[in-house]
Amino acid sequence: MAEIHTLPSSGQAAPDEIISQQPAAWVDLPADDQHQLLLALVGTTFGQQPEQQLKLIRASRARFARRFVRMAAVSKHHTVLEIGSGCGFGTRVLAAKATRVLACDISPAYLSYARHECADLNNIEFIQTHSRSLTVLADQSVDVVISISVFIHLNLYDIYWYCREIARVLKPEGRLCFDFADSDKLFRRDWLRPANGRSRDHFFVEQAGHYLDGPTDLPQLMQWNSLRGILNVARRCGLRLVRRRSDRLLFKKMPAEE
Ligand SMILES: C[S@@+](CC[C@H](N)C(=O)[O-])C[C@H]1O[C@@H](n2cnc3c(N)ncnc32)[C@H](O)[C@@H]1O
Repeated sequence: MAEIHTLPSSGQAAPDEIISQQPAAWVDLPADDQHQLLLALVGTTFGQQPEQQLKLIRASRARFARRFVRMAAVSKHHTVLEIGSGCGFGTRVLAAKATRVLACDISPAYLSYARHECADLNNIEFIQTHSRSLTVLADQSVDVVISISVFIHLNLYDIYWYCREIARVLKPEGRLCFDFADSDKLFRRDWLRPANGRSRDHFFVEQAGHYLDGPTDLPQLMQWNSLRGILNVARRCGLRLVRRRSDRLLFKKMPAEE
């Protein structure tokens, strides 16, 4: 039976006994298995052997990361926290724009891959974190938080805990940019399908199949959330939406009295 925890009072960091429970699937990936790491990162979008498509994957992840960097207006003066750096393909893009990048991930295997991927860059620190927790970081220590293709795997509880921690580590007026899997857009007739046919609906049905095959793999599957729910939770944590581009959201830290 699931253990029931008492919620900490508002404004405090989440206690370690709550946040140390890891979504096992990512954490347990083997460091020496590039095939598995890439499959967990991009699925079969680049075929069954993604390690043979490394150049394409790198370029595609970098292109995607540039959208977040532009949206959050990352600049040379910024310290950027990246939550879920994966193979480091997007981390390179952040490092090219920011003065310093703190690249966090819960998976030692991905951190090791990313360290190797970014070995030629000297403004990145790789840090292993626990899910939902940023206790390694001081209050008001970062300008921008970016998380790419990570919140699409988080349920609303995870998002709540992360938003609380993010609001704590952000400087006043600091920004947060992440993408999410929008449940409100599923199976809508009025929604245009992308040219490659891999629509949201396609992913949902594919992931529903994976769920049936292995319900315990849930942490690695996509989690569908409503925009309204995310905005309410973020606002409760002191983060206000300032812009939305498709499934990417940009928040600003609100002044304490707001
Ligand atoms: C789909 S990959 C995305 C990687 C990278 N951001 C990119 O866009 O290429 C998800 C990454 O987030 C990490 N991750 C999953 N759950 C996490 C959590 N709760 N906190 C931090 N990182 C997490 C995984 O270990 C993995 O490296």
